[in-house]
Amino acid sequence: MRVLLVGFGVVGQSFAELINEEAGMLDHDFGLRPKIVGVVDRHGAAVSPEGLDVQKALGSKKKLGTLEGLGRDTYLEGKSALDVIKELECEVVVESTPTELTRGEPGISHIRAAMKEGRHVICTNKGPLALAMPALMELAHHNEVVFKFSGTVGGGTPVLDFAKKCLEGSRIRSISGILNGTSNFILSKMSTQGAEMKDALAEAQKLGYAEADPTYDIGGFDTACKLVITSNYVLGTSLSINDLDITGITGVSKKDIEAAKAKGKVIKLIGNVDKKAKVSPQEIDAAHPLNVSGTFNAILFDTYPAGEITLVGKGAGGKETASAVLRDLIEIRRSFAR
Ligand SMILES: NC(=O)c1ccc[n+]([C@@H]2O[C@H](COP(=O)([O-])OP(=O)(O)OC[C@H]3O[C@@H](n4cnc5c(N)ncnc54)[C@H](OP(=O)(O)O)[C@@H]3O)[C@@H](O)[C@H]2O)c1
Repeated sequence: MRVLLVGFGVVGQSFAELINEEAGMLDHDFGLRPKIVGVVDRHGAAVSPEGLDVQKALGSKKKLGTLEGLGRDTYLEGKSALDVIKELECEVVVESTPTELTRGEPGISHIRAAMKEGRHVICTNKGPLALAMPALMELAHHNEVVFKFSGTVGGGTPVLDFAKKCLEGSRIRSISGILNGTSNFILSKMSTQGAEMKDALAEAQKLGYAEADPTYDIGGFDTACKLVITSNYVLGTSLSINDLDITGITGVSKKDIEAAKAKGKVIKLIGNVDKKAKVSPQEIDAAHPLNVSGTFNAILFDTYPAGEITLVGKGAGGKETASAVLRDLIEIRRSFAR
């Protein structure tokens, strides 16, 4: 199966490493022989219809920050992702460019172009889905391609397909989740070590959990993206991020945390959807299943008749998210075989 990687950062590189490492297992267990025929980053593209030398691509990106180490025959400086999507023969496009929440670009254009060319799409970028998921699902349907996005929620934890497939036949009455590792790390530090918000944030930045501009995480927007995607996929809603009430954790003080603690409670940033969808800091019992610590994610499905079911796992990370992309690729392979 010929794969084009659009975006070659943490996720794109981890995925390339993973399919190289697991080539034997993928062939033996799934009859899947993925071949990376193109990689695009902000600087240009490397393409080879016979399959790129993945180790060389990874080495070049690590050493030079670009793909030029692949040589003049392969590397096309300044070549855009849209051009490569149109020109290069492949079955699957993996979109992993940065999440952007005003217009969803450049991801939305990449996904649309790939679908129009009849390519299956795997996306880890939350922006296009948070803003235009119903339209993109419709476009995939219209072009008869598979559109998968497991890595957008829960990193490697299989949140979306767990709810969609394993809970088939159950009624999901509501969904609540701790969906952002950075905010959870900060609130956990404040609660367990009495840290001030600014110190916990500085530590999260030092450890590489938080960006220099942490608004996307601590403002609740990342949680909101994941809630929109989960609700639309699992409950069949047609939400966009603009439909949600979003409050982040910046207003949570050490005093609030101490007051909650005195009542046997903790404050967590929770995304909920039942009749309405919202993101806000909420008090929960210390013994509540959503009280996970550090950068963990947890999601609780209130179902009928099985009751409450909670899934816990690491919510981000290159390797973890690459494992979700690989699951999506295996599913696309299966859909060919049907
Ligand atoms: N990292 C995680 O744990 C994780 C988990 C779940 C979901 N995600 C989502 O997955 C996506 C990728 O995450 P990441 O951590 O891999 O990000 P990243 O390390 O910043 O990588 C982004 C990649 O996209 C490339 N890019 C940017 N604009 C482009 C354009 N116009 N055309 C082609 N390539 C372009 C960048 O090129 P350069 O290399 O040249 O800068 C880079 O290679 C994001 O949307 C993120 O929210 C990440």
